Amino acid sequence: MKFFIDTANLDQITEANDLGILDGVTTNPSLMAKEGISGEDNILKHYKKIAKLVDGDVSAEVISTDFKSMVAEGLKLADLADNIVVKVPMTKDGIKTISYLTEEGINTNCTLVFSAGQAILAAKAGATYLSPFVGRVDDINWDGIGLIKEIVKIYSIQGYMTEILAASIRSPLHIVQAAKAGADVVTCPLSSIMGLFNHPLTDSGLAKFLEDHGKLNKSK
Ligand code: E4P
Repeated sequence: MKFFIDTANLDQITEANDLGILDGVTTNPSLMAKEGISGEDNILKHYKKIAKLVDGDVSAEVISTDFKSMVAEGLKLADLADNIVVKVPMTKDGIKTISYLTEEGINTNCTLVFSAGQAILAAKAGATYLSPFVGRVDDINWDGIGLIKEIVKIYSIQGYMTEILAASIRSPLHIVQAAKAGADVVTCPLSSIMGLFNHPLTDSGLAKFLEDHGKLNKSK
């Protein structure tokens, strides 16, 4: 399973990248706004910076909602760097845009996916990635990881090539569950990635190793 970080914060991307386990980045308009990035020029410059920081795919989301404008925006985003993936919402115009960009050889990420039916449409359109939102499905008392399992099953039966990118991840447990469910990629906040490190037995075990070593190797 590939590991993406879900942020537009350059420091956090660098911190995750320095661990040597990062395969890519996803952003969305809310994450860009959180970093105070506004205006087309600044937004494009920021995506360029992110794309330069990581050796992996970087999802940059279109803001337009009609086919013609989405395509124009998608082409502009794709032109920024080879590793830019154009993120497109799951709408009728979005699916048309994904089909068009796929024909043009541009990688896409179909976002705001909440059902297996939507996942089938995105695969048919040739999306590179599909982003089902695990946490937001859980938020409405439904089963986010159950949705990942259902899509994994359908894609496997049908032989669809679209990679399932578990998004809206809220905890280290979600990451483990997405891996068990068969997601191809997981995109998560830095806090969830860092949470995977934690285990009290690792901490106490290391403290004991160092203590025992110290007993016999005291510097004189
Ligand atoms: C990523 O592609 C999504 O935009 C993101 O994971 C949404 O996460 P949220 O539901 O925590 O905002």
